[in-house]
Amino acid sequence: MTMNFFNFVELSHFLIDNYVEKGSIVADCTSGNGFDTLYLCNKLQGSGFIFSFDVQSEAINRTRKILDEKCSYTNYKIIKDSHENIDKHIQEDLDFAIYNLGFLPNYDSQIKTNPKSTINSIKKTLGIIKKRGILVITVYTGHDESEEKNEIVRFLEKIDQNIYLVMNLKLINVNKYPPELFIIQKNAWCNDNPSCIFYYILIYFYKKIQNNAIKKSFQSIFLNNE
Ligand SMILES: C[S@@+](CC[C@H](N)C(=O)[O-])C[C@H]1O[C@@H](n2cnc3c(N)ncnc32)[C@H](O)[C@@H]1O
Repeated sequence: MTMNFFNFVELSHFLIDNYVEKGSIVADCTSGNGFDTLYLCNKLQGSGFIFSFDVQSEAINRTRKILDEKCSYTNYKIIKDSHENIDKHIQEDLDFAIYNLGFLPNYDSQIKTNPKSTINSIKKTLGIIKKRGILVITVYTGHDESEEKNEIVRFLEKIDQNIYLVMNLKLINVNKYPPELFIIQKNAWCNDNPSCIFYYILIYFYKKIQNNAIKKSFQSIFLNNE
């Protein structure tokens, strides 16, 4: 069946299909009903490891139940704690992390993610994501007049483009609180392409050169720049 890429859960699962592989270490930073953790569990087929976080018992119970029923592997840990404390629970680097922000559907909508702890958690996760690793974040704009989304944009648009690339997907013709998706990849630029890596090394040395004459000849040789 064709994926509906306007549905960000499906699009996130498409990313899981493409970036999570045997042996990957992954985190579901908001386990909720457990759908994303379940998807990761079935994708990993017993290899690698899944850390799944939620702050409330109801979500932890729902996640545990769906995994017991629908995934026969046990390479996961369901953690009742804020994703803000991700560094206290994970000592390894991550290949993939997923956030589906907001509140638990059909439950207490007052228990929800908030901008401050979300940004703190994203910062920590960026610090432990492996080279080429992916973070995917779905944010809903209806429950808080886009406050959390705006904070995330303000934070992500300033992170170093030489280390992370950030993409923001949104439905621009839907006016009633459409969700938005952020996809972040670490070291996305070169993708191990030798000529690209060579280019970055050149740029690095170019930035270091102070002498104007050397800089000019460097420009004319390597950057086709008079
Ligand atoms: C939209 S639901 C997640 C849906 C889930 N990914 C799924 O596949 O069913 C958002 C969840 O984030 C949880 N949450 C809120 N604040 C959190 C925090 N600081 N750390 C971890 N989870 C949090 C809520 O309890 C809620 O269960």
